Amino acid sequence: MQLFCRLFIFFHIQLAIGLISIDLTHTIKSSNPVFHGLTPFNFTEIRTIWTQDDSKTYYFKAKNTFITDEHFGTHMDAPYHGSNTSWTIEQIPFERLVSIQALIVDVSKKSARNANYPIEIEDLNEQAMKQATGYFVLLFYTGKSKFWPNQKDFAGGHTREELAFPGLSPQLASYLTKRYSEKLVGVGIDTLSIDPGSSKHFQAHRTLFKKNIYVLENVAALDLVLEHLKNQSHTFFAFDVLPMKIMGGTGAPCRLVARLEDTRRTGGKWFGFLIFCLVVLTIGIALKAVCDLKDNSMKNLN
Ligand SMILES: *[C@@H]1O[C@H](CO)[C@@H](O)[C@H](O)[C@H]1NC(C)=O
Ligand SMILES: *[C@@H]1O[C@H](CO)[C@@H](O)[C@H](O)[C@H]1NC(C)=O
Ligand SMILES: *[C@@H]1O[C@H](CO)[C@@H](O)[C@H](O)[C@H]1NC(C)=O
Repeated sequence: MQLFCRLFIFFHIQLAIGLISIDLTHTIKSSNPVFHGLTPFNFTEIRTIWTQDDSKTYYFKAKNTFITDEHFGTHMDAPYHGSNTSWTIEQIPFERLVSIQALIVDVSKKSARNANYPIEIEDLNEQAMKQATGYFVLLFYTGKSKFWPNQKDFAGGHTREELAFPGLSPQLASYLTKRYSEKLVGVGIDTLSIDPGSSKHFQAHRTLFKKNIYVLENVAALDLVLEHLKNQSHTFFAFDVLPMKIMGGTGAPCRLVARLEDTRRTGGKWFGFLIFCLVVLTIGIALKAVCDLKDNSMKNLN
């Protein structure tokens, strides 16, 4: 019975529904918005050359170098960034990064009315959060990502005083660590920082870091994920967090991948069911053949 259940789930996921992967990563360019005081990304084209091999055929070679702040573009803040006893990038256990779950909190309406909106406990969907079956990341969608890469519209400006964008209130950060730190492994947002732009001392960062909860900033394409989730019954989706594995890193550029059901491929549902039936039938026939064989050999023995 267990085998049949497993088979059904396998075919249901692989064929019936189909998965769609969404890249939640902005492309890194030196013109990306930056937090005040950060070293901008410096990309240097070292050389592109055409060279000849032994048979005098020309072939192409190119390479570049770059200098970057750890906290540039779509990136992870390791807990060590603000807590001297917490994990650096390479110390974060792999099972907290790959094949985890994620949930989006949409605060775009409130954020549109308040440039430094402090996200509150009431904004959470706790009924959904309690359904987490394993490690999960909470992602806040403020709508600011629509203005990427325009520094003024995305982040309010360049100077410390100009910075303005929504972020977690200190109360929300401590509530999350008190209630959810067993399964909550990370918190992400589509702005420059998980603390509001007007924050002076980064309470949300510090509170989460103490519990070894990592932070994801400048998360892209959450609106696209929300669009897909509208057509689905569940609020969680599969999520992968892939930061560069920098020894002692306090942060790192990070690739983020959301994996969801592709509900546009509903035709595939029947195809998957058909394959499932065929497999069950084949196994049935095979089992019967084996049983018959056993029966016959028993008879022969007798
Ligand atoms: C970028 O790096 C190169 C190579 O180190 C350096 O020559 C150049 O001045 C840098 N550019 C900026 C804008 O910092
Ligand atoms: C972390 O900082 C505290 C407070 O300054 C200090 O007592 C402690 O030794 C530090 N721990 C490490 C591992 O650096
Ligand atoms: C959601 O469903 C509607 C109606 O079936 C469809 O038009 C739309 O393309 C779907 N959106 C996504 C993102 O799958």
